[in-house]
Amino acid sequence: EMSPIDRAKYAAAVKAVDYVQDGMKVGLGTGSTAFWMIKRLAERVRDEGLRVTGVPTSSRTAALAREEGIALTTLDEAGWLDLTIDGADEVDGDLNLIKGGGAALLHEKIVATASDRMIVIADAAKQVAALGSFPLPVEVIPFGWQTTQKLVEELLEGMDVLGREVQVRQMGGMKLLTDQKNHILDLHLKHIGNPRQLAMVLNQIPGVVENGLFVDICDVLILGQADGRVTVRD
Ligand code: A5P
Repeated sequence: EMSPIDRAKYAAAVKAVDYVQDGMKVGLGTGSTAFWMIKRLAERVRDEGLRVTGVPTSSRTAALAREEGIALTTLDEAGWLDLTIDGADEVDGDLNLIKGGGAALLHEKIVATASDRMIVIADAAKQVAALGSFPLPVEVIPFGWQTTQKLVEELLEGMDVLGREVQVRQMGGMKLLTDQKNHILDLHLKHIGNPRQLAMVLNQIPGVVENGLFVDICDVLILGQADGRVTVRD
């Protein structure tokens, strides 16, 4: 039995997979919503003989897709993708996103940016008026990460945000390691006044590899509800 939240995620995922056509190269997102997308895509591969090549955005997604029988390749092998389908932690009215709750933001942003189209799937509760309630993940290299954190904190002094607390993400009593063996700083900003500006300046700090703000990357947003209804925005 699926929970209401999973039914909402599943509804969005099924709708998104309708966009996949025979022969496409597809970026495969990460997280609990992308999980349903991969399940549904594998079903179409089995039932319809749909030919797709997937590019996974994380080791977790690669393992799941492999298990489900979806053919995989690397981004460099694929070159350019027709479509990426991924989840998000928050989406605003301009289709800007916060991603990285699952720590895969770096590969997710590279893959989505290398795609003709990015479709974001989420349960309707992920939609917000302004981004920032969800802590913004920033991937930093381990070398000098505490200095990098201080530079991030200083930068935030001058930014249009409401909160300024920064925490390094822990996992099982240790600093989390991303697929690239980096750390994640979670920025508790509460309200982000100017996502575009913040995304740009964060990446100017040495030691910052990437941040979880996706500005002008998402093309289509599919929101699901527990009763199975979906709304599509593009
Ligand atoms: C992974 O790093 C994230 O960007 C996920 O896409 C995001 O956290 C959404 O995950 P859920 O679908 O599990 O909410």
